[in-house]
Amino acid sequence: MSFTVAADAYDRFMGRYSVPLAPQLADLAGISSGQHVLDVGCGPGALTAELVRRLGSAAVSAVDPSEQFVAAIRERHPEVTVRRASAEELPFPNEAFDAAMAQLVVHFMESPVAGLGEMARVTRQGGVVAACVWDHAGSHGPLSLFWETARELDPVVEDESHLAGTREGDLAELFQAAGLHEIEDITLSVSVEHPTFEDWWEPFTLGVGPAGAYVAGLDPERREQLRERCQEQLPARPFVLSARAWATFGRA
Ligand SMILES: C[S@@+](CC[C@H](N)C(=O)[O-])C[C@H]1O[C@@H](n2cnc3c(N)ncnc32)[C@H](O)[C@@H]1O
Repeated sequence: MSFTVAADAYDRFMGRYSVPLAPQLADLAGISSGQHVLDVGCGPGALTAELVRRLGSAAVSAVDPSEQFVAAIRERHPEVTVRRASAEELPFPNEAFDAAMAQLVVHFMESPVAGLGEMARVTRQGGVVAACVWDHAGSHGPLSLFWETARELDPVVEDESHLAGTREGDLAELFQAAGLHEIEDITLSVSVEHPTFEDWWEPFTLGVGPAGAYVAGLDPERREQLRERCQEQLPARPFVLSARAWATFGRA
């Protein structure tokens, strides 16, 4: 999946859920002052910003295949080392970092085992590799209501539930296949308030990720049908959407 969208569109669509996830993933990976850490699939920087806050810019490196997101990191964090690259081919030497992290990325990797293997290679022996992916396969992801409604209207819709890492236990299997040790699974959760239905819906029209691409491919009538059906299921007053992510940690 390529993300050829503006950083601001990503922030509004997914950043609203990934920003509150970042400190939890960083806490669980034991990220603290003095470490050098790599953010793999950094996007426009939800986790990068948290790492900069904990470690300082000079101790943070980041990669993403999206040109727009790499440009956003350069603008937002000029002192972070950022490269345009995929997890499967990290442009760093062996054991360059104390930890390598991938927040909401493994399910988009062409080869998750190769990507995690590369993350292990660039992490010092005994250092932490950490990743998390939304529970897209259950009904507790931040996009679950959207995909369930889309499927109700179009039974053959291709949602994100088939992707690697979206089922409980998937990530641990991938970590094992990638040669990581002392693997542990944890569940993370976020709760995000949406002031109105429109605040929730409008970012789906910005073309971000598989859900945005799906909406962009609908004709206006079907898009409106989907919007209305979603609206019927959400309260008119401000509402809180809670979502969970599967997180896994291992040692290189
Ligand atoms: C859902 S976003 C997550 C961004 C950010 N980590 C966050 O938590 O908001 C997925 C990101 O993975 C990147 N990505 C897709 N395929 C990748 C790959 N093979 N290696 C590394 N990053 C990849 C995308 O460009 C995108 O920025």
